[in-house]
Amino acid sequence: MSEASIQQVPTTPFDDQRAGTSGLRKPVGVFEQPHYLENFVQAIFDTRPELNGGLLILGGDGRFYNDIAIGIILRMAAGNGVGRVIVGQHGLLSTPAVSHLIRKYQAQGGIILSASHNPGGPDGDFGIKFNTANGGPAPESVTEAFFQKTLEIDSYRIHTGDAPDIGRIGGFELGDMRIDIIDPVRDYAGMMQDLFDFDAMRELLASGFQLRFDAMHAITGPYARHIFTDLLGAPAEWILNATPLPDFGGGHPDPNLKHAAALVALTRGENGVDFAAASDGDGDRNMILGKHCFVTPSDSLAIITANAAMIPGYRNGIHGVARSMPTSQAADRVAERLGIAHYETPTGWKYFGNLLDHRRITFCGEESFGTGSDHVREKDGLWAVLFWLNILAGSGRSVADILAAHWREYGRNYYTRHDYEGIDSGIATQLMDDLRAQLDSLPGQRFGEHTIAWADDFSYTDPIDATVSTHQGIRIGFENGSRIVYRLSGTGTQGATLRVYLESFEPDPAKQQHDTRQVMQALVDIANRVAGIRARTGRNAPDVIT
Ligand code: G1P
Ligand code: ZN
Repeated sequence: MSEASIQQVPTTPFDDQRAGTSGLRKPVGVFEQPHYLENFVQAIFDTRPELNGGLLILGGDGRFYNDIAIGIILRMAAGNGVGRVIVGQHGLLSTPAVSHLIRKYQAQGGIILSASHNPGGPDGDFGIKFNTANGGPAPESVTEAFFQKTLEIDSYRIHTGDAPDIGRIGGFELGDMRIDIIDPVRDYAGMMQDLFDFDAMRELLASGFQLRFDAMHAITGPYARHIFTDLLGAPAEWILNATPLPDFGGGHPDPNLKHAAALVALTRGENGVDFAAASDGDGDRNMILGKHCFVTPSDSLAIITANAAMIPGYRNGIHGVARSMPTSQAADRVAERLGIAHYETPTGWKYFGNLLDHRRITFCGEESFGTGSDHVREKDGLWAVLFWLNILAGSGRSVADILAAHWREYGRNYYTRHDYEGIDSGIATQLMDDLRAQLDSLPGQRFGEHTIAWADDFSYTDPIDATVSTHQGIRIGFENGSRIVYRLSGTGTQGATLRVYLESFEPDPAKQQHDTRQVMQALVDIANRVAGIRARTGRNAPDVIT
C-alpha cells in the first residue's frame, strides 16, 4: 500500500480522556469535537502494538454517532497497519458478543462503542471501550497508558480511502487491511446453544408459559429475536422494543425497576406474566422478574451458583464465585455451602478478569444488574436470562418459588441501593472525605438496634498479580451482619453520583417475606445520619432506588 493513502493528521491533546469504571464516556457533543475520537483511538493503536498486523473486533450498541465512529475507526485501523477487522453488520455488536468474538477468533483486541445504559441521541452520551485479547475490559494499567498517550499526542494516522458500507455482510479491503462484516448474532447464539438446554426451554415456552423480554430499543433486540423467536419458538410479540434506535426511543436503556417500569407492570396483576427480563444499551446488564416478584441481582448471582448443576454448560463442576464489594453477600453463603472459593472485588467488571482467566471462579456478578461466567469476559445480559429460563424449565418451579426456597435454605439478604444523581462534585468529594475521617470513631456507635462493628475504606489486592486498588468505597459493618456502603460513581457524565448500598440479613424464614423498603428503613436513616446526605446535598430522597 502506498504511504500516500495514509495521512498523518496533526492534532493537540485533550486533557479529559482518562477512562472511568467502563471506558471513556462523554456527552455526544464532546466526541463530536474535531479529533476527539481520533486522539483516543490513536492512543489505543500506539500503546497496543500487537494490533499492528493483528485482528481487531469492532462494533457498538447502535447509539447516535455509532456509525460515524465505526467509519473513522476503520480508516484509522487501516492507517495503523491493523491486519484485519471483524465488524458487526450496521456496526452492531453487544458487549458480550465482542468479548466472545475476541476469544473465538483469537483477536488481539476489540473496540466497543457504547455508553452502556446512559441515554443516547444527539444530546445523550457516547463512549468507547477497549477489550484485550482475553476478551475482557482493559485493566487500569492499559487505560492509564491510553490516558498518558492522549496527553502527549501530536498526530494520528488515518487512511484516506472510504470505509465500506457497513450495512452489507461480506469481505472488503481498505488499503492492505481486510474488513469482514458479519452477522452480529450468529456466533453468540451458537455459544448460547452450547451452554443451555434449548429443547427444555422450547418445551416450556410452548406449554402456556408467558415470557416477555424488553430490549429497550437497544442492542439486544436482534439477539433476542433470533434466540427467543427463531430458536425457541416464542411469538415475536414477546420481544418488546426489539429494534435498536440511535436514541433508544428517547428512553433510558437501564433495566431496573425505574427505567423498565412498563415491563415490571406486565408481571403484576392477575394476568401477570410468568417471567420477564430486560437488558441494557450494550447488552451486558439484565433484570429478572417473575410473576409479582423481582429478583435482586445479588440474589440472582447466588441462585445461579446454587443451580449450576442443572445447566448443561456447567454440569461438570464449577470453580469459585466473585461479587463486587457492594453486592450482597448472598453468593458467599452458597459458595461456603458448595465448598468453593468466593471473592470480593471492587466495583467494575475488569476486576473479575484475572480470577476468570486463572480459573479461580466460574461465576461473577454485581448488584448493578450484571451477571456472568467464564464463557466470556464481560457480564452478559441474555446469558443471565437464558440461565434463569433454563432453571425454570429444568425445575418446573416459578420464579417466586425458586426465590423463597433459596431464602429458606440460605437465609435472605435484603438489599437496596439508593442513588443521588447529578450532585455537586465538590460536595460529593467532601462527603466521602468526611466519612473517611470518621472511620476510626464509627465502631461502637449505636443506632437503635444497630451497632457499628467495623468501618473501612475498601481496598483490594488482586490475588493473581498483586495489583492494589485503593479507595474503592466506604464500608460500614454492623454487629447484626447489616452493611452500608458508600461510593461515588465512576461512569456518570454530569456532576457526581453518590451510591448508597444497604444490606441486611434475615435467616428466619418466617421473617423473609417482608417488604424490602420497610425492612431497610432503619438502615436508610442511619446511612443518612452518618454521612449527612440530606443536609449536604439538599436532597430529601434518592433519584433512583433499585
Ligand atoms: C456502574 C456500576 C458498576 C458497573 C459499571 C459498568 O459503575 O455501579 O457495577 O460495573 O456501572 O456497567 P459506577 O457508575 O457505579 O462507577
Ligand atoms: Zn452495559
